Amino acid sequence: MNATLETIQRRFACRSFQDTPVPDAALRAVVEAGLHAPSAVNRQPWRLIVLSDKAVIDQLDAAGVARLRQFDPAGYQRIVDRGGRLLYNCPALVLVAVEQMGSFVSADLDAGILVSHLLLAAAAVGLDSCPCALIGAALTGPEGEPWLRRLGVPDGFGFGLTILLGYGAGPGQAPHAVDWSKVVGLPA
Ligand SMILES: Cc1cc2nc3c(=O)[nH]c(=O)nc-3n(C[C@H](O)[C@H](O)[C@H](O)COP(=O)(O)O)c2cc1C
Repeated sequence: MNATLETIQRRFACRSFQDTPVPDAALRAVVEAGLHAPSAVNRQPWRLIVLSDKAVIDQLDAAGVARLRQFDPAGYQRIVDRGGRLLYNCPALVLVAVEQMGSFVSADLDAGILVSHLLLAAAAVGLDSCPCALIGAALTGPEGEPWLRRLGVPDGFGFGLTILLGYGAGPGQAPHAVDWSKVVGLPA
């Protein structure tokens, strides 16, 4: 099979990471792939914050879990049942911050395409990954502002998504099953 298609098919959301750090070269390759993403009018309405300080990642995780506990008890319980971590012990992550532009052309759509590049590049260089929106519990609203500033997100940008990176602990999971019922009009 074509190598790109093979990478697309084997990527899955990894929810348990080993302690092994991610080599700098692999992080750079993933981020560079993101920077190649297309965007409307080439606006590139994003900032990528690379975080590989495990102590800070763990603090952020704890802050997210605490906020979830406060504001979403059912979501909190789901996370407790899964092991109590939002960031799954990942040794590195990329925070995708999105420019708050108020344009009718969605910056979130641009950021989504960028995220897809990050996820597929990670798989291509042998890293496991997981998109993580739930950590937004610590990175949104007035309480999230100090965290955004601490991590280096500039004014005018907000939390988009985090991409957790590392090496999966335990056997790799199967990706979700494809659902052909979502497709109309494809010749048989
Ligand atoms: C925008 C977005 C946000 C997500 N947020 C989370 C999250 O907070 N926590 C989590 O465990 N998985 C999260 N996921 C992973 C999805 O649950 C996963 O992609 C989906 O179940 C399909 O499984 P697969 O990626 O293994 O094929 C997110 C995925 C996307 C695209």
